[in-house]
Parts: sequence; structure tokens; C-alpha cells
Amino acid sequence: MKTIHLGVFEVAGPQVGGTLSWPHPRSSSARFHELDHWVHVAKVLDAGGFDFLFFADGYGYPSVAGDLPETAARGGINFPSLDPAVLIPALARETERLGFVVTSSTGLDHPVQTARRFASLDHFTGGRVGWNIVTGASQNTVAELFGHRTMQAHDARYDQADEYLDLALALWQDSWEDDAVRADASAGVYADRDKLHRVEFEGEHFRSSGYFTVDPSPQRVPVLFQAGTSGRGREYAARNAECVFVQGTTVAQTAANVADIRARAAAWGRDPDSIRILVGLTVTVRPTRAEAEQLRAEFEALQTDETVATLYAGNTGIDLLALDPTRDLTQLLDGADAGPVGQMGQSNIDRFLPKDGSKAPTVRQILDDLKGKGTRGFQVWGSPADVADDLERLMDEVDLDGFLIEPIFDPADLEDVATLLVPELRRRGRMPAAPIAAPTLRERLIGSEDYFTRRAQAAESVPQGS
Ligand SMILES: Cc1cc2nc3c(=O)[nH]c(=O)nc-3n(C[C@H](O)[C@H](O)[C@H](O)COP(=O)(O)O)c2cc1C
Repeated sequence: MKTIHLGVFEVAGPQVGGTLSWPHPRSSSARFHELDHWVHVAKVLDAGGFDFLFFADGYGYPSVAGDLPETAARGGINFPSLDPAVLIPALARETERLGFVVTSSTGLDHPVQTARRFASLDHFTGGRVGWNIVTGASQNTVAELFGHRTMQAHDARYDQADEYLDLALALWQDSWEDDAVRADASAGVYADRDKLHRVEFEGEHFRSSGYFTVDPSPQRVPVLFQAGTSGRGREYAARNAECVFVQGTTVAQTAANVADIRARAAAWGRDPDSIRILVGLTVTVRPTRAEAEQLRAEFEALQTDETVATLYAGNTGIDLLALDPTRDLTQLLDGADAGPVGQMGQSNIDRFLPKDGSKAPTVRQILDDLKGKGTRGFQVWGSPADVADDLERLMDEVDLDGFLIEPIFDPADLEDVATLLVPELRRRGRMPAAPIAAPTLRERLIGSEDYFTRRAQAAESVPQGS
């Protein structure tokens, strides 16, 4: 029986999950500018036995028909967002064990900058930091904002991300020997020059020659997370990641993605069970099922067609509210100029145009189907026993290692998970009776001190099938 690892998914903005709930009196997530808000969240998680606090992040924002839609601004949907990395040292100081995972894309900063930022965070947290590697969402608005004239193709972004990490690892691992730092005040010697080495890196996308300016941090390498579940994304995770964040769609589809990541990891010569795979989960847990249902109903009552349509347009370029609600999506082909349909993303169109002969849903039915889902993964609600049953079933059916809790009413939902659900999971032996007293995030999550020796393995083993 596997132990459940628990993280919490946050953004340094008013609203998590592409849904609307921050205006509800139970939520105080609109206080995201205040350090005290985040310190409270971190303390709840630290005391509650959670493993880490995870921040999604990016420079982009939703765009519909080439601009920021009114709904996104009004609802605080994926806009605005602060830089979460700068929060972390303050939160580490106020907590004892909690890990902190920050998302940073491989598309913008040079690897030297990212390596230095995470090594510094690892020092300031005493070895409790992780990096969630993504190739970057909202590519269109990010490209505009940074003045890029072209967007890199999807799979090429992952090729570049492989190289990006290779250089970051070289900086973290090869520049300083373990005993290079002497910090010997009596001898007046800080570092031993003989134990410092130049990194020479010549790649297709990145070049670097010189010394890494941060001396080795407690973990040397931040715990490497990855999010992005396309085929190329799963391959990236299999080669590089220690923890993977997959989003829950259906049980069958998520289980297939998890199995595929583990199989690909085995092809890279890795132990497939050493990868921690966590899925996004929205939990409403209250002392009784009736109370949880009441709260869930209050959440659902806040959701609007406009919020759903904004997110859908961001994924597909299609404005559902401009269509005939009584007809299905084939109406997009009516006009002489169907526009750039499908160029931004096909999967969210195909899922509503069944190929098996069954009737396609109308636009009205699509809006109802997507309402309250946003970018959230699995959603469960009920008493502590109900929810613990659901989590145990998902762990086993999907072959998971844990969950990233996506709060609705923040931080009240997290307090409920800590005080109602965690004790129930402990009673069932699914979480340690007391928080693990591991010195680093890696030891806590993976049970090992070092980042796995992927580069040595990669040099020796060519993945099967390639
Ligand atoms: C579960 C999940 C979480 C993600 N979180 C972020 C994020 O915080 N910031 C970001 O820029 N992109 C994020 N991404 C998006 C990826 O960077 C982006 O979609 C990219 O194209 C790779 O995803 P793909 O392999 O699914 O195509 C996330 C993707 C997934 C599936």
C-alpha cells in the first residue's frame, strides 16, 4: 500500500484553477499580495503534514481574439500574478519542514540565471526547494510581451528544454567539488581554488564557459518536477523528472498517462516506481457529506458561462458565446471563412465531436459540461471517510504517488484538509503518523540524498525503441 504524498497547488494571484470563487466570503485568496496570507497558508500545511507548497507560474495571460478578455480581468482568471520565487525565503523562515516548488519555464531566462536562482533558494530554504520545469503556457501572449516575432514549435521547445537542463545540471554538479568551500576564518580562506572547475558547454541552443557563482547548496540540485503531458512532455519527464504533475481528466486516461511515463522511464534505465507522480485534485471535505455538498453547491453557483468561455477560447481560439447554443460545433464550418479553427489546439474541439456516431453535444451542453472544471483535475467532496475512500481508489486505479490539492476557498479548504482529511488518511496508514523529519525535500519525497545519476545513465543507455 503506497503512502500518499500531499502538495498544494497555488498561484500568486487571486484565483486558482480557472474557475471563480475568490469573491466568496469563505475565501481570502484576494489577499495574495500580503506576506501574512502566505505565511498562514504555509504554517497550516507545515503543521498539517503536507509535503510541499507548489506555485504554478508564467509571464502569460489569457487572450481571446488577440487581446486580454474583459472576463479574465474582472474575474481575476489567470491574471494578475506575482513572481512566487521571491516569496519563498519568507515562508521557509516561518516553517520547519515544508518544501517549496516553483514553476519556471525553459523558454525565457538563460539556464545560468535559472540555476543561480534555484541554488540560492535552496540555500535560503535549507534544502527544501523544487523546480517545476515547464516549456511554458500562453505562448502567444508571452511571445508578444517579450517582443519575440516567432513562437517555437511544441516539440522543439522540449528539445531545447533537455539542453537547458543539461547545462543547469553541469553548473550545479560540476563546478564545485564537495569540499571546495573551506570558510576558514583563521586561515582567511573561503574557497579552495584547486577544487573549482570551469563548465564548458556547447549546445545547439545554449553556450556557457566559466564558473558557477553559487557554492553547493544543501541539495545541490533542486528536486526536479515536470508538468506537461503531451507525448514529448512524457518523454521529457521520463528522462529528467523526479516528480511529475499530471492533470486528472478521466481515470482511464490519467492511468494511461501514468503508465506511459513509468514505461518510458524504464526505457531510460530508471526504476519506474522511483518517479513520484501526483495528480491535481479539488477537495471539499466537511464533517458531514451534507455540509460538503452545500459548500460545493455554493461554488457551482458562482460559475458563469463567461468564465468557461474565456478559458475555452484561450485553449482553442473559439468563442462559444458567439455561437448558436442550440447547435453543435460543426456550425464552425458554416461560413466561407472558418478562421484559424484548430490552430491553437485541436483536442478541446475533438472531444465534443464524437467519431463513434454518437450525437455531438450542443454549445449549451458544452458550456454546462465545462462549468466548474476550469483547469482543475479530479474533483471530490464529502465527509472525511468519503473523500479518503475516493483518494485510496484513485491512488490504486491510477497508480499514483499523491495529490496536488487545488483549493476552491483558499485557505479554508486547506485547513479542512489538514484537520479533517489528513487524520483520516493517517488512521488508514496512508500517511505517516507524524510528519517525516527529513532534512531535505528530496529525502522527504524520494527517500534519497542525490538527484539520480541521469546523465551517466543517459550516456550509456539508449532508450529502447529509439
Ligand atoms: C498539469 C500541468 C501544469 C502546468 N503548469 C504550468 C505552469 O505553471 N506554467 C506554465 O507556463 N505552463 C504550465 N503548464 C503548461 C506547459 O508548459 C505547456 O502546456 C507546454 O506546452 C507543455 O505542455 P504539453 O506537454 O502538455 O503540451 C502546465 C501543464 C500541465 C499539463
